[in-house]
Amino acid sequence: MTAAEPLLEVTDLVVEYPIKGFGRKPFRALKGVSIDVKPGECVGLVGESGSGKTTLGRAVLGLAPVTEGSVKFKGREIGTISRRERRELSDDIQVVFQDPYTSLNPSLTIEQTLAEPLRVKNVSAADARKRVRTLLDQVGLPADAAQRLPREFSGGQRQRIAIARALALEPALIVCDEPVSALDLSTQARVLDLFKDIQEATGVAYLFVSHDLAVVRHLSHRVAVMYHGEIVEYGDGDKVTSDPEHPYTQRLLMAAPVADPDRQAQRRADRARMLEAQREADLQAGAA
Ligand SMILES: Nc1ncnc2c1ncn2[C@@H]1O[C@H](COP(=O)(O)OP(=O)(O)O)[C@@H](O)[C@H]1O
Ligand SMILES: [Mg+2]
Repeated sequence: MTAAEPLLEVTDLVVEYPIKGFGRKPFRALKGVSIDVKPGECVGLVGESGSGKTTLGRAVLGLAPVTEGSVKFKGREIGTISRRERRELSDDIQVVFQDPYTSLNPSLTIEQTLAEPLRVKNVSAADARKRVRTLLDQVGLPADAAQRLPREFSGGQRQRIAIARALALEPALIVCDEPVSALDLSTQARVLDLFKDIQEATGVAYLFVSHDLAVVRHLSHRVAVMYHGEIVEYGDGDKVTSDPEHPYTQRLLMAAPVADPDRQAQRRADRARMLEAQREADLQAGAA
């Protein structure tokens, strides 16, 4: 595989969820989505709540039903593989979820949590312990964190632990689903820096999901914008997050928090004007 070839290649992906009740048509959460992630790249996926971002991440992880289209990883179709094949793949594709309070087993020490995937791979106890120390160091936690329990850590520290666990088997891709959304703003910034440092140090690729344009702007090489199960804009990260073409992305940009209070006020005024225009357009469309 050359560097230019995608690591992950999703093509015309359709995901439908069955709806309870006889004869009801399934709900189409993804309506033909194409996206690719190259080795070492961060692709941001933004869109408002309910647009289908988690569904896309879950389809890549084999957790959402692929109705049509394909999901390829390192050139191989993985949209429809067996559970056993999926388990083998789990070395290479890992995940970090949003909620740092439910994603760690409360009764395991941090060392046990981080060593678990290594022990499954028959890594010796001594080597696993060494690797755990390296991982803790990599995510900026002290070595004595190893013997402690999740409840002793803050939300930001727990996300660092979740990141360490995702890194344990040196994956090529990590699906990050709103991994900083539950954290306060200053913690968000530090954890985002960590994601960036880790990518530079290890060459891991991210599919980085967030409802917040400001979050993906920070580290995405390319950004895809999802709206009602479709990608409406996809391109260079700086361009999409600062000078978007699609009206929906422009609205997202207006909604994203900015540090400067004057600009914030300006944004709010712009946004109010846009919403007003939108409302008028909707009214006119309704009247027609
Ligand atoms: N397991 C499911 N069964 C039925 N509908 C679902 C399921 N998961 C998600 N959905 C629906 O699919 C749409 C997209 O959801 P999701 O992928 O979670 O969006 P996002 O992550 O962008 O908020 C939503 O309308 C949601 O209600
Ligand atoms: Mg989601």
